[in-house]
This record gives sequence, structure tokens and C-alpha cells, in this order.
Amino acid sequence: MAIGGSYPSQGKCRGSVAAVAAVERPEGLQAGSALLTASAESTGLLHHGGRLREAAQRYSIPLSDWMDLSTGINPAGWPVPEPPEHCWARLPEDDDGLEQAARAYYDAEHILPTAGSQAAIQALPRLRPPSRVAVLDPGYCEHAAAWRRAGHSVLPVAAGDIQQTIEHCDVLLLTHPNNPTGATFAVEELLAWQARLARRDGWLLLDEAYMDLTPEYSLCRHSERRGLIVLRSLGKFFGLAGARVGFVCAHMDLLIALRTLLGPWSVSAPARWVATAALRDQRWQTHARRALQLQGERLQQLLDRHGLTPAGGTALFQWLRTPRAAELHRALATQGILTRLFEMPASLRFGLPGDQADWSRLDAALGALSSMGVEA
Ligand SMILES: Cc1ncc(COP(=O)(O)O)c(C=O)c1O
Repeated sequence: MAIGGSYPSQGKCRGSVAAVAAVERPEGLQAGSALLTASAESTGLLHHGGRLREAAQRYSIPLSDWMDLSTGINPAGWPVPEPPEHCWARLPEDDDGLEQAARAYYDAEHILPTAGSQAAIQALPRLRPPSRVAVLDPGYCEHAAAWRRAGHSVLPVAAGDIQQTIEHCDVLLLTHPNNPTGATFAVEELLAWQARLARRDGWLLLDEAYMDLTPEYSLCRHSERRGLIVLRSLGKFFGLAGARVGFVCAHMDLLIALRTLLGPWSVSAPARWVATAALRDQRWQTHARRALQLQGERLQQLLDRHGLTPAGGTALFQWLRTPRAAELHRALATQGILTRLFEMPASLRFGLPGDQADWSRLDAALGALSSMGVEA
């Protein structure tokens, strides 16, 4: 593919809320919310799923009546016990067992906990001189935004064009499996790309936020190689997005530089305690993997039955590509079901319903679409 120019501004990644707000903000929208929306736009913050309060206001449906399918977070996350008192009173300590638990879970030689993988996404671009950064497109939009903000030249790359792109970039950034498309790559192929990049001091940066269900495809075990950086998150499979815990697996030298940049105590002691226990809980992990696999298949089949065949996805979400994405998003939102709308390409992401009542509700809402005049 031809490479050149810079990545279009964040508009591409803007989520449903901004796009729909422009045309259908109700007159009574409170000043506070308008202020928040305005400040998000002026600061360049990107929109994501999970903004239920805003949807509740826009569609005048009480918060408690919504079913939130707009994220890829496990609806039955790791059951969090009360952290011990000392977690609140003392500063976090590096030797509290978290790194050890994470190294074992991710099978990585060296690992650095961060305040969600987002903290690493924002900091890593500051560890390189101005570089040409190829970012999988469509993909998780925070990556391109962070590299662009740090002054790098960002090149969008389609999954099929990576091979030709390697020689023209210094950093290749892939979300693997990809969000929202679910695209995956063979381990040997990734390692070959990494070797080519490393010869020129380049990086292969992998965001494995959705890798927990398929650990056999993770490159964490190879992350000792210079120039290979793997990000992991406790937010998706473990359902602990609010705890803000993520990890970076990489060569020790890079982790030292990143840690210096992030400073001390970047993950709170209660979050470290919860993360350690979740990473050690193999029984829960085995059970959750099996259950999520079945639920992922169930969601795929449900959408298929309603003529909304997904173009891709993972066990935690399904991705539907359709020119009528905005219409579908709105029709489901009027029934209190929040999905994640993407503008480019026009598509919708569905997360997993939580319990049987939610599954039945989604089934009924999808069944009602044709009577509302909305087709796939
Ligand atoms: C692909 C991907 N990577 C990273 C993140 C950030 O996750 P966290 O900062 O909660 O670890 C997200 C969140 O939606 C994501 O979808």
C-alpha cells in the first residue's frame, strides 16, 4: 500500500455519542453534560463505549433500565473481595507479589504494572525519537492519537498491507486480537515482522487487551526480545476495568525507561492487591474462559439469526459492519440497549449480555427492529 500523509484526525474514531449528539441532542440536555461534551472535544479526548449516563440523558431512559453492550468487558468479572485495611493506609510496594503473579500469568520474563494499559499507551510514544508509526486500521483509536500527540508520523495500515509496510515504518502497532474487527495474526508472522523491525531499532508494539481467552497466541513469552513490547489489561477478561490495572511486557531496559517516566506508585495498593489475587485465581480463569467462549458463540448466533451476521469479533464482543449502523444503534438505544457505534467503517460492536434476562431482552429488541423499519 502507498504510505504517506498523516492519519485523519480523531473524527474517525469518535464514537456514537458525539456523532448522534450533533443531530439529536434533546432540548432539555443539562448544562453540565453539555459542558463535559464540549471539554472532551476541545481537549481532543476520544469517545469510547460505556458512557451510560450520557445515553440515559439523551434517550430519557433511567440509568437503571439500560443494558450496556457498548464495551468488551466481561459482564461476569472476577468477584472482588474487600481489600485489607493496610492497602488504604500504606504506599504501594513493588515487592507485594503482583509482579510475580503477573509474570506467571502472562508467561513473561519482565513486566511492569501500569494504571491500565492506557497509561502505557500514552507514555510509550515519549520513549522514541520522531518515528514513522504504522497503526492497524480500523483499530483501537487511542494508539494513533497518542503517537500523533507526541509528534510522530502515524500511518494507518490495513491488516492485508502490513507485509509491504514494514520497510517503511519504525514502529508497527497492532491490537491483537484487533478491536473492533477481531483480526488475528499468526505468531510466526508477528515474530518475523518483529525481527525485521528490530534490525533497524524498530518496535513491534502489540496491544493484547483481548488475548486472555487465547493465551497460546500471546507474544508475552517472547517479550524479552529487544523491540518487542506487549500490553495487557485487567479490564476485559477479568472485568476489572475500574481498577485501572494493565501491564507492559518488554525488555528490561525499556521497562526501566518507562517506569522512570511514569514515576512511583502509579498503581494504587488496593488495585495491586485485587490484581494479584485475580491473576492467581486459576480456577476462576479456567471457568471464565469456558463460559465466555460459549457466550461469544451464542452472541454470534443470536445476531446471525436476526440477519445481522458479524464480520468478526472475539469471545467478548461481536463486530457488525453495515451502512445502517447509526440507524441500528439508535433503534436499539430507544429500547435501552447501548451498543458501540463506529463511523469509519460504519459498524457496530456488541458486548456480551450479562444474565438470561438480558439475553432475552436483546433477542426481543433485535426482533423488534424490522417493525421499527430498521433492516440490517
Ligand atoms: C484494545 C484496547 N486496548 C487498551 C484498552 C485500555 O484498557 P485499560 O486502560 O483499561 O487497560 C482498551 C479499552 O477499551 C482497548 O479496547
